[in-house]
Amino acid sequence: MMQNKDNEMNQAEWRLKVFDSLSYPTLILKPDRTIVAANRKFLEKNKACGTQIIGRTCKDICSDTQRHINHFSCSDADCPLQRLIDTKQPQSVVLKNIDENGNEIWEERVFSPICVDEEGIKYIIESIRDVTAVKNLEKKYSDVRELIDKVVQSSVSGIMAADRKGEIILMNKAAEDLFGYSARDANRINIEDFYPSGVARHIMRKLRDENIGEKGKLPSTQVNIITREGVEIPVEMTAAIIYEDGREAATAAIFNDLREKQAVQKKLEETESQLFQSEKLASLGRLAAGVAHEINNPLTSILLYGNLMKEKLEPDHPLLNNLSYVLEDAERCKDIVKNLLAYSRQTRPAKDVFFLNNLVGESLRLIRDQKLFMNVNIIKNLDDYQILVNADKNQLCQVLINLIINAFDAMEGSGTLTLTTYRDRKTGKAYIEIADTGSGIPPENLSKVFDPFFTTKEVGKGTGLGLSMAYGIMEENHGRISIKSTGPEGTTILLELPEEPVSNEFHFMSIG
Ligand SMILES: Nc1ncnc2c1ncn2[C@@H]1O[C@H](COP(=O)(O)OP(=O)(O)OP(=O)(O)O)[C@@H](O)[C@H]1O
Ligand SMILES: [Mg+2]
Repeated sequence: MMQNKDNEMNQAEWRLKVFDSLSYPTLILKPDRTIVAANRKFLEKNKACGTQIIGRTCKDICSDTQRHINHFSCSDADCPLQRLIDTKQPQSVVLKNIDENGNEIWEERVFSPICVDEEGIKYIIESIRDVTAVKNLEKKYSDVRELIDKVVQSSVSGIMAADRKGEIILMNKAAEDLFGYSARDANRINIEDFYPSGVARHIMRKLRDENIGEKGKLPSTQVNIITREGVEIPVEMTAAIIYEDGREAATAAIFNDLREKQAVQKKLEETESQLFQSEKLASLGRLAAGVAHEINNPLTSILLYGNLMKEKLEPDHPLLNNLSYVLEDAERCKDIVKNLLAYSRQTRPAKDVFFLNNLVGESLRLIRDQKLFMNVNIIKNLDDYQILVNADKNQLCQVLINLIINAFDAMEGSGTLTLTTYRDRKTGKAYIEIADTGSGIPPENLSKVFDPFFTTKEVGKGTGLGLSMAYGIMEENHGRISIKSTGPEGTTILLELPEEPVSNEFHFMSIG
């Protein structure tokens, strides 16, 4: 009996020792919240002795003035102890507290039931763990996450990530705009839907290829993507595989829309080629003008003396025929010289204000006699609005006639010629389009057709001055000539002129 008592004493002491040596501050409470024991760690931490704690309730301690002992409000509605009593299950709660130096600390309090028998819960053990370091880390992590999220969302480049199955797990605003999908429906889309067939696999192969950049990284590459509307867009992309423990976990890619860059590039190339063309034509023009001047004088003598001779010869003279050929060819040379002088802008434009539609009508009238008209269907697609331009009407007539004759030549007598006029109110430009259904200009000739003397026509048929002269005249009149389209279905030449604003009634009265 005595020995049993000793054993019990020893066991009780031993339990107290265990309780005291727990490294977490710990309390034992009754279900009525009375504290029956507090371990050494608890007393040390709260700088209290047992008598200050034992016999009091946890609520008393909550309202203790020593704020470092406890400083959180404990409401019945959300009392973990009550929950434990109701559910008989362990409960935990994380609470914010203020330590004696006024620093914020976080505590996790775990409540476990003890002595559960048919009478129910007899005691509750509460252990308190300082989780301030974990909480601070969590906050730091969530701050960094928030920052990364903001950086990703505010990026002007489209950013996207997909899991191993290719399902989208991240899509920023720029990617939404680029692809036309919203991040909300992203989880229903697979990465393969964003590329033309086979491209996604090809990108993955490149990503895994150690010979292309670093393994798992794809250097800047140009590809086409497909938007929700099915439009293909050229983009520049970089991509990377995200590894976790050496295994592929996800892929991420950054996209930049290339449409604007390519449009600027194209415009730059066009401007460069136009500058080159203008320079080439300017130097050729100076040469042509020099040659034309030199030839003009001897040509005038040839024509003068040749005609005098022709007048003197008897009508049946055997040399009369030969002389007529000489004079005909000399006349042709005179026309060439005249065109050369026009092309090299030796003649000043005499500008006047006129209706663009009238120019089309007059040019057609001037070539009406040509037998070329025979099997050609002419469509006049003229703007209802009377577009005004301020230019040299005769020169422009010359341009239009040359272009119409070129079109007829290309159609070899049969086809459709469409003459269209229109304007762009925003840019203040007036346009004439000359479209034929002829053979088209082969790509290798495109850069040459505006060069003087470039012709594909047989000797004696074309001098190759028509387009170069047209180019010179359009520039002189502050306009432009360009090939809008060409191919086996025909050619469309575009003439552009500044539109003359309608200023006053006087203008209307004086225009032709
Ligand atoms: N509408 C067109 N369709 C197809 N080819 C064209 C057209 N217009 C011009 N070309 C090509 O451009 C070349 C140059 O044209 P350009 O008007 O300068 O000279 P040309 O017509 O050959 O001779 P010219 O006009 O001096 O009588 C033509 O020989 C032809 O090959
Ligand atoms: Mg021509």
